[in-house]
Amino acid sequence: MTPPILITGAGQRIGLAFARACLDRDQPIIVTYRSYRPAIDALQKAGVECIHADFATNEGIEGFIQTLKSRTDKLRAIIHNASDWLPESEDSDPADVMSAMMQIHVTTPYLINLACRSMLEQGDSTTDIVHMTDYVVEKGSAKHIAYAASKAALTNLTLSFSRLMAPRVKVNALAPSLIMFNQGDSEAYREKTLKKSLMGIEPGAEVAVASLQFLLDNPYITGRTLPLDGGRHLV
Ligand SMILES: NC(=O)c1ccc[n+]([C@@H]2O[C@H](COP(=O)([O-])OP(=O)(O)OC[C@H]3O[C@@H](n4cnc5c(N)ncnc54)[C@H](OP(=O)(O)O)[C@@H]3O)[C@@H](O)[C@H]2O)c1
Repeated sequence: MTPPILITGAGQRIGLAFARACLDRDQPIIVTYRSYRPAIDALQKAGVECIHADFATNEGIEGFIQTLKSRTDKLRAIIHNASDWLPESEDSDPADVMSAMMQIHVTTPYLINLACRSMLEQGDSTTDIVHMTDYVVEKGSAKHIAYAASKAALTNLTLSFSRLMAPRVKVNALAPSLIMFNQGDSEAYREKTLKKSLMGIEPGAEVAVASLQFLLDNPYITGRTLPLDGGRHLV
């Protein structure tokens, strides 16, 4: 049987869509969730191992790794999807914002990758790590400075881990710009954001699912970031 793919933060949106796509292909998965959502219930009923994990502290990460190792000794892939999008604001201490962003986007994948290396190297087949980064790595962001910096650091982890783990494990990043709006985004925000790409659409989670699958299926891409941005760099 194919070993499971670990998907972090799979309770909603892109992580959940990829989890469902894996189920459709009979690909075993293990997912993490921080907030309980009905979608997690549905995954559990479908036989998916759903592990509650909060990566906000190193203890939370270490506890998760221990639980994971008690459930499987092999992994087909790790998709580092869990993320937060904290802005700088007058209500928050910038040091806390930076610390939270580095914790979820850098420390979490760093510790999980190191701890799970042997689980990825168990069989004869090549396995994968995919880091979900962001288009803003190329441009920076005036309103999400710490977020952009932490995703840039995650892009760099892609380079280091691909060197460390080749040829057994391919390590790549997927860098989306707008995939899905958030509930509560205003009409004005939506209109302005749609104009930022050449394609001018909100493509939905399926484009991210297809891109993740492409990275897993392709045996000759490692240490690369795949852009998924509708030509935003040309507008
Ligand atoms: N959607 C887009 O348009 C877009 C654009 C650019 C990049 N991306 C990247 O693509 C990935 C998926 O995007 P998305 O919009 O589907 O993400 P999302 O809706 O924000 O979901 C991310 C998940 O990560 C979990 N998470 C956050 N902090 C955590 C923590 N400390 N410990 C454990 N889990 C935590 C969240 O849990 P809770 O359910 O508890 O909140 C959430 O379910 C992210 O890495 C994102 O940065 C997305």
